Amino acid sequence: MYRCNIIPMPNQLQPQSGFFAIPREGRLEDFVTRKIDTRITGAESYRLNIQPDGITLSAGTPRGLFYGAQSLRQLAATGLGRIPCVCIVDEPVYSYRAFMIDCVRHFFTVAELKKMIDAAALFKMNVFHWHLTDDQGWRIEIKKRPKLGEISSTRASSDFGGVHMAGPYGGCYTQEQLREIVAYCAERYIEVVPELDMPGHMTAALAAYPELSCTGGPFQVKTKQGIFKDILCAGKEETFRFLFDVLEEMLAIFPSRYIHIGGDEAPKARWKACPDCQARMRAEGLSNEQALQGYFMNRVIAWLRERGRLAIVWNESVRGGNLDASAVVQLWMDKNGECARWANGGGRVIASDYYHCYCDYPYAMTPLRKTYAYRPVPRGVREAGNIWGVEATVWTEYITTFARMSEMSYPRFAAVAEVGWTREERRNAASFERRFQLLTPVLAAVGVHPAAPQLWNPRPLTRLKGVAEFFLPKVPSMLSE
Ligand code: ACM
Ligand code: ZN
Repeated sequence: MYRCNIIPMPNQLQPQSGFFAIPREGRLEDFVTRKIDTRITGAESYRLNIQPDGITLSAGTPRGLFYGAQSLRQLAATGLGRIPCVCIVDEPVYSYRAFMIDCVRHFFTVAELKKMIDAAALFKMNVFHWHLTDDQGWRIEIKKRPKLGEISSTRASSDFGGVHMAGPYGGCYTQEQLREIVAYCAERYIEVVPELDMPGHMTAALAAYPELSCTGGPFQVKTKQGIFKDILCAGKEETFRFLFDVLEEMLAIFPSRYIHIGGDEAPKARWKACPDCQARMRAEGLSNEQALQGYFMNRVIAWLRERGRLAIVWNESVRGGNLDASAVVQLWMDKNGECARWANGGGRVIASDYYHCYCDYPYAMTPLRKTYAYRPVPRGVREAGNIWGVEATVWTEYITTFARMSEMSYPRFAAVAEVGWTREERRNAASFERRFQLLTPVLAAVGVHPAAPQLWNPRPLTRLKGVAEFFLPKVPSMLSE
């Protein structure tokens, strides 16, 4: 049987007889004929033809050539000196295949992020969703709003339930560093989608600019996890001036067509009691605070659109019923079928369900096989084409080191990469696990060390114990706000 040691598994391949012997001297690339072939129309498609006397890699775009090169790199690394001949014709199912890193709860250096980017590129992911602002910190230098760097970037201590760190913790990427990451990603055909989370998850900014809240503050950068009541005021014009100042600098750094503007977990208690927010609702004819959030997001979406950009929002933002149709909705926790309704109404959805794609949760809760079995089309969707892609996330409340992030992310990020690329009937969990083990040295060579295989799919009792050990220490801090 022909074993194709590639992740993601190619969508079409034809085994051929014979082997290509990997030369002991010289570089493999010298035996590869690479060519742009405009008859290959998919922007991400490639053809890789391995014959005993040479290798041909063709694609309609440089991106396609890059993906073909990743496949070849994997075959060469796992081939024990020779590659079985094969003809691969490949292109992805989904055009949006993302990974997200939360650099707020814990800060990762540019060098560490580059390793994660190299790893994602190996598996043909094409979007780095960069979570840069939240209650517990602000990580983007904004020259027009210097207090974000001086005040919002640092919290007094860290107490995330199970993770306690005394003393100040922080960090803020300079604009030069942000551009360095954008350039590094671009060389690997990865687009950086930065996230400015609003109107909730903004306490760090409110610590510096309390006048943007409904009550006026004062606030401190949060030292705990949670969902916090104080959010940006939707009634004050100064809020929008602030957001547009920040976004203007972000757009100059991040050329991506899409900007993620958050919209998750924004409690409405302050808006209900705020005269400015209530006046806004009357003036705009909005019947409730969910619709006020729709208005809020729509103003930012309109501002972005005037500048040629589109927005991605988390799924809570559709609840007001008035979200601009151009927004892409990212599903993370949808108990009400709101993403299916959005897709059925013609809107686009990114699938990153909490129970499958959140790789900060222990393997006891989210075993590799559960992540791998993810079906991105939510129940009730009639037009699967509106499901635009998939995303794996790593939130970092409980992840304090790069080594820990690596083993929580991998192999689960690679599983999501395969879900995003490979047709469902060609996927197989046992085959994926076998291939991932063979490819672990390639991943290690870029500096990312995955979880050991015995941790991937714990037995039921081990799972129960692992879930209890993970959640019990966190209960007191979850109840504290
Ligand atoms: C989220 O996990 N709050 C998007
Ligand atoms: Zn208000």
